This record gives sequence, C-alpha cells and structure tokens, in this order.
Amino acid sequence: MSNVPSLRDFSSIVFFTGAGLSAESGIPTYRGKGGIWGKYNYEDYACQDAFDRDPDHVWDFHELRREKIASCNPNGGHETIAAIQAEKPDTKVVTQNIDGLLQRAGVQNPIELHGSMWRLRCSEEGHVIENFDVPLASRRCECGAYWRPDIVWFGDSLSEVDMQAAENALVNADCLVSIGTSAAVYPAAALPRIAMETGAVSIEINLEDTPMTPYYQHAIRARATDALAQLWNA
Ligand code: APR
Repeated sequence: MSNVPSLRDFSSIVFFTGAGLSAESGIPTYRGKGGIWGKYNYEDYACQDAFDRDPDHVWDFHELRREKIASCNPNGGHETIAAIQAEKPDTKVVTQNIDGLLQRAGVQNPIELHGSMWRLRCSEEGHVIENFDVPLASRRCECGAYWRPDIVWFGDSLSEVDMQAAENALVNADCLVSIGTSAAVYPAAALPRIAMETGAVSIEINLEDTPMTPYYQHAIRARATDALAQLWNA
C-alpha cells in the first residue's frame, strides 16, 4: 500500500460499500466462498414474484437473516468510517448493504441503495416503518396486508431519491473508496465511475479483483478492517 495516499489528505471522501465490509462482523456475503446465493436461490427468496407467491416463505428467510444480523456487531471497518466522518463532516457513505451496521457504528445518513433489513413497507398502502423486532410480532400491517421487507430485490428499481443523492455525493468527491463489493450488480456497480470521471482519487479495497478493478487508481487486496485502518492511521 506504499503509494496509496492517506485518507487524511482528502476532505470529501465517498465510501462505496458492499457485503465484504460486513464480512468480518460475521455476516455472510452474497457471492464467493460461503456466499448466500451459493446456498439459496434468489428467485425463491429475493424477488417480488417469490413474495407474491408465498410471503411467509420469503419472510422465513428474511427473519432468519434479521436474527443473524441482530447477533452481529459493527467491525473496525465500520468504526473507522464513522471516525473519518466525525473528523471530516463532508464524508458520505453510499452502501449496497441492508444490515444497518454502518448506523450502529455511528455513521450518519448512509445512502442505502438497496434498502434496509430493518424497515418494513406495507405491501398494500406502501408506507414504511422502522422495526427491529426479532422475531416480528406480526408479519402483517394493521390494515391486514403483509409487510414487505423494504429491500430492493432483483427486478426492483432503485429509489430515484437515493440514486440522485448517491450521484451528487460521487460527483463532488475528491476521493472514492470502494470496499467489499464484487461490482456485479447494476445500476449500483456503475456509480463509482461518476467519481472517477470527475477526477476523484479512486481506491478499491477488496479480497479479490473485480470487473471494476482496472478503472481504479489503487487496488488494495486486503481485509476491509486492516486496509481502512492503514489508510486512516498511516
Ligand atoms: N474485506 C474486503 N473484502 C471482502 C471481505 C473482507 N473481509 N470479505 C469478502 N470480501 C469481498 C469479496 O471478495 C467479494 O468480492 O467482498 C465482495 C462481496 O461481494 P458480494 O457478496 O457480491 O456483495 P456485494 O458486491 O455487496 O453484492 C451486491 O448483490 O445480491 C445483491 O443486493 C445484493 O447488495 C447486494 C448486491
């Protein structure tokens, strides 16, 4: 990591995070060794058709994941990002993660492109509530309709508001740090290009190469906790 600049040299850092940031908290990633989609077929658990077919089957899966995530804690990577944002208030976080660990580490206002495991949306009326009950007291809204996890499933479109907020953050970044994402899922995977095209220094922290690796000025093959600590404490 000798020629990688310290994060202390920047004032508008954007962290673009994926499941690899939470791996060291014990939360499985989606792809690669032990990945969720290696065990579960996403078409049975993470798409609207599956939910419409059998909401309880989908909820069984998601309640297991809520229980697992609730038993995990933020790791040093989440905490370093929170420490950087505390010292540099223009720091922004754009995350694909739905686990809420960034907020639990003290990160303010992460843009959750793929929603949150801790929000429920009424499948009839569309209103959204925060809910941390494990297990859920009821899988149904007061109106009688099923709650739907407020997560972006395969085939869903992302929130325009979140995409606009992410684009605004990236266009104003002087440093982009991608952490723990396989850059496999669009439109999220294309977002880092915005920061690169506006001249931000670009750093990819990941255990393995990704299709986006060639576009980064710096590719660090290390665990998120170690690499972030080195970039901040260097
Ligand atoms: N430190 C750094 N990188 C890690 C670590 C770690 N400790 N552990 C795993 N990784 C890397 C893996 O090498 C992999 O490239 O994190 C990446 C995780 O990739 P995915 O599991 O595909 O997760 P992500 O990129 O966030 O997936 C994107 O796909 O299923 C959808 O909506 C879901 O948001 C998710 C999206």
